[in-house]
Amino acid sequence: MTVLVTGGAGYIGSHAALALLDNGRDVVVLDNLSQGHRWAVPAGAAFVEGDCGDEDLVRRVIDEHDVTAIMHFAGSIIVPDSVIYPLEYYRNNTVNSRALAQAAVDGGVKHFIFSSTAGVYGEPKNTPIDEDFALKPISPYGTSKMMTEKMLTDAAIAHDLRYVALRYFNVAGADPKGRAGQTSRKATHLIKIACQTATGVRPQMAIYGEDYETPDGTCIRDYIHVSDLANAHLLALEYLEKGGESDVMNCGYGRGFSVHEVINAVKRVSGIDFEVELADRRPGDPAALIAAGDRIRQKLGWTPVHDDLEAIVRHALDWEQSLKTREVSAA
Ligand code: UFG
Repeated sequence: MTVLVTGGAGYIGSHAALALLDNGRDVVVLDNLSQGHRWAVPAGAAFVEGDCGDEDLVRRVIDEHDVTAIMHFAGSIIVPDSVIYPLEYYRNNTVNSRALAQAAVDGGVKHFIFSSTAGVYGEPKNTPIDEDFALKPISPYGTSKMMTEKMLTDAAIAHDLRYVALRYFNVAGADPKGRAGQTSRKATHLIKIACQTATGVRPQMAIYGEDYETPDGTCIRDYIHVSDLANAHLLALEYLEKGGESDVMNCGYGRGFSVHEVINAVKRVSGIDFEVELADRRPGDPAALIAAGDRIRQKLGWTPVHDDLEAIVRHALDWEQSLKTREVSAA
């Protein structure tokens, strides 16, 4: 009765592994450490270094650890990189997911939770977005995740496998107890970058466009605390274990903050008035993306406990500070 967490040495995967361990579950993490860190794998989880696209390895892990469910986080996540290296993204996010699903079916694993993205919706004209919106991804990243969703749909019809695909909106923050956080070497996410600027890791940051059709001209996003998201995975697993049907669910709070509001929150919470410059729009940024989050609340009984921008920022800042200390002591 072990949960296999692919990408459990990475940002969201490590938080999900913690949530599972806190819930008394056995966890085995499979991670190739291309992005994640060995030290980020929570104590208490077994660890296997390797690739989730290695079908033989996954079959062995399933067998040796008595795996009954898979949470699949491993993948590539930088949207602009996916435009430059599309085939790498299709391999890491689609082809490897196919291999993992095959190993799951072969190994008799019946429950599969997939880390999907609001990126599958592309640039919707209206917001909030519900799960029935047309899927029109505008990047290879979004398409690579959408293709995996489609594969899971078909595999669930053909085989004894049920899945939940969680479409994340903008994930941010860190474990409130300081046990995990965003460690990605190449961060592009707004809250991470603003916290790095506040803590002096970066000299300044940029706002990508102030001429959007939003109240203050900057883009609006639905920022969700990573621990609430991790808990959604646990609830999705319990839902499947109780016989729930395969489904896709948005993961967002259903409200948004502008880039200005986020930067002001980071300045307020950190007490540091760091330098911000105005830059051109970043290609492919929709003006506003907010989740319609009714389905996950109704079906999983998900009740977020960190829906508070300042708390998200405080946890992210604390983590950034702890990373600096860690780097100093590792040097
Ligand atoms: N932004 C800045 N300056 C920065 C970084 C970001 O102004 O230094 C702006 C962006 O232009 C955007 C907003 O902050 O308007 C949020 O940008 P992020 O990069 O933090 O997040 P995205 O909304 O672009 O993307 C995220 C995930 C994707 C997912 C998408 C779906 O990274 O995986 O949400 O909503 F597909």
